[in-house]
Amino acid sequence: MKTEKILIIGACGQIGVELVLALRKLYGAANVVATDIRDEHPLLTGTGPYYTLNAMDAAGTHALVKKENITQIYLLAALLSATGEKDPGRAWDINMQSLIQVLDLGVQEKLTRIYWPSSIAVFGPTTPRDNTPQDTIVEPRTVYGISKYAGELWCQYYNQRWGLDVRSLRYPGLISWKSEPGGGTTDYAVEIYHEALKNNTYTSFLSEHTYLPMMYMDDAIRGTIELMEAPAEQMKTRMAYNLAAMSFSPKEIAAEITKHLPDFTIKYAPDFRQQIADGWPKSIDDSTARLHWGWQPEFTLGNMTTDMLKHLKEKMQVA
Ligand code: SER
Repeated sequence: MKTEKILIIGACGQIGVELVLALRKLYGAANVVATDIRDEHPLLTGTGPYYTLNAMDAAGTHALVKKENITQIYLLAALLSATGEKDPGRAWDINMQSLIQVLDLGVQEKLTRIYWPSSIAVFGPTTPRDNTPQDTIVEPRTVYGISKYAGELWCQYYNQRWGLDVRSLRYPGLISWKSEPGGGTTDYAVEIYHEALKNNTYTSFLSEHTYLPMMYMDDAIRGTIELMEAPAEQMKTRMAYNLAAMSFSPKEIAAEITKHLPDFTIKYAPDFRQQIADGWPKSIDDSTARLHWGWQPEFTLGNMTTDMLKHLKEKMQVA
């Protein structure tokens, strides 16, 4: 068993729940301390230590780091793209303040490693949209994207100035059946599976040919842990790494679902999230992550859809 003591902030979110469960298997339940502003997620109950913590509470976070002898932090609390556009000031405050607090804590308490997620949202309409490279034009147009790009620069700054070992990934849209997404532009690709099983129909808030980069949660969790366990000398960039697995449109995911549920139908009613999606890449070039630390995705639209429907059916107890 490994010797780190890990603090997860934002443990009840879409990534948090699965990351806590995976890290507890690897590091031992008692060595992964889960926290969130919300009540404990039912899937975490009974699996290890849990505290209610506001990511904006610097003193509370510091006290918990001391109390639990924490050596690593994963900061996952954030407002995502769609929620962020409804209250830009709040999104900026939450996303930035929580990060800078954790980076300061990392320096002060000499933490061994920090993880903070970035996103494809750092890119904007002036970025090349197909196979978007690691280093390219970066002009985000959402407050979420601006906060993620600024955050990447802060991570790089703390690494260069204080030697803090902080690591980051630019996640594409993440698809999962265990935990629910919240407030993202890519959330349609999760909702569609739920609605397919419940109602056999789905109304997409993105238009039929809107291609976005996507990834199954299993790949995202494995990639995150592989990044965090890679030797420091392999981290040749301290901005976040592009990470990719697949790219599809609402029409294509619907066609894939139809292979399992032949009567499934999709309708399109694009809303304000269409504009956000139109400013993001269609597909991502992640060759730098592959080269530096050996990233390799496993799931495609086909095997992800089979897995999602199987697990969701069980979860929803649909016959
Ligand atoms: N899934 C995120 C969002 O839609 C992208 O990082 O906001």
